Amino acid sequence: MAEHIGIVGAGYVGLTSAACFARLGHRVTCVDADESKVDQLRRGEVAIAEPGLPELVAQGRSDGTLTFTDAQAELYGTDLVFLCLPTPPDRDGAPDLGVLEQVVPQLGRLLRPGSVVVTKSTVPVGTAARLPGLLRRDDLPVVSNPEFLREGHAVDDFLHPDRVVVGTDPPNSAAAQRVARLYEPTGAPVVATDSASAELAKYASNAFLAVKLSYVNVLAELCERFGADVREVARTMGMDARIGPEFLAPGPGWGGSCLPKDTSALLHAAESAGVEFGILRDAVRVNARQRARVVRAVRQAVTGSAAGSLAGTRIGLLGLAFKAGTGDLRDSPALAVAAELARAGAELTAHDPAVGTVPGLDAVQVVDDPYLVAKDAAALVVLTEWPEFRDLDWARLAASAAQAVVVDTRNLLDPDTLAGAGFTHIGVGTHPRRQS
Ligand code: UDX
Repeated sequence: MAEHIGIVGAGYVGLTSAACFARLGHRVTCVDADESKVDQLRRGEVAIAEPGLPELVAQGRSDGTLTFTDAQAELYGTDLVFLCLPTPPDRDGAPDLGVLEQVVPQLGRLLRPGSVVVTKSTVPVGTAARLPGLLRRDDLPVVSNPEFLREGHAVDDFLHPDRVVVGTDPPNSAAAQRVARLYEPTGAPVVATDSASAELAKYASNAFLAVKLSYVNVLAELCERFGADVREVARTMGMDARIGPEFLAPGPGWGGSCLPKDTSALLHAAESAGVEFGILRDAVRVNARQRARVVRAVRQAVTGSAAGSLAGTRIGLLGLAFKAGTGDLRDSPALAVAAELARAGAELTAHDPAVGTVPGLDAVQVVDDPYLVAKDAAALVVLTEWPEFRDLDWARLAASAAQAVVVDTRNLLDPDTLAGAGFTHIGVGTHPRRQS
């Protein structure tokens, strides 16, 4: 049954949800307080780089199933309203609910009786239970329906989810079933549970991924000490169905707009509840240490000593975004490494296919031409796993570098190709491969 859905917030979660619900056959009204964003969307301009999203927005606009507005009043008459509002961390790492607390009472004044209010973007455990109070209404059922959308895969993740979670108190209410029905065409299994479990499941999933990544990053360090290869170790582990092969690639640390924020929020929540979540605390600690480890590897590569000075040394950086496929710099480990290298006195030139400038990090010169990063460089450092870096002309890079050595924090490059081009390749948790 086609529903009239309201989406509050046109960020990457809100806009993806709006466009995908329209794709699934519903009528969607997407509201954002930012007038210029709404104007852009009305012109069909999608500022978020998500594969497939501009096409879905265009389709929804031309069918008339997807409309954008800055007037909240247009939500009157909607059957379900999804809250896709930001909850950025405050200084302690606790989510700031300011926007939600401002918007929800306004919704309470305008929604028609029986409209279902759904939390979609990540909110602290207990938020759904608080919503009736914030709405000042007891005739608006509340459902927690957390998103699990990866940046750069958001449309695909929405249309082909591993699972759909609907949390209500009591579980599996009529409202929960109504929300679950929206996803029926995706064929995904539905978890109908209480609202606290639904909210916690979101944090628990992201925090578990963070723990898995920190685990493999420490394992990489251990491999270096033991002369083992982390790729072989991780491949073997991943074949165990209980572990699974994903999120086992070591790197410069995990970042982005979700994992760091959600781990801090869960740690903060655990602390407030008097529960010691040591494993998660360690995962965060390991992640902070990981960037120092990259800097030590660069010192070692350039000077032959893990404590050697980088003052005045030119270093080329390949990648700035927190992962490939996005230009997002939020909590990017690449930027953290760059900042530490700059503090150590290195002169940095960087290239990222999706990044033109780095606000606030003047020490890094960002160039459009990847070959410029090697000019007179004492080392190159791969920080983001863009596949196109593999296909660079490495012999040309070697010719313009002062020292042909690459620290590959993503184990992205083929060590034999690099050695053939005259480079020494230093991966993470792998055997260094000297130039041939
Ligand atoms: C994440 C979750 O995956 C998603 O379900 C959630 O809703 C939002 O947060 P995203 O932030 O887009 O998505 O990034 P993700 O692809 O999960 O990567 C997170 C970080 O882990 C990145 O810094 C990435 O480079 C790193 N990573 C990932 C690794 O270092 N190794 C891996 O094997 C996988």
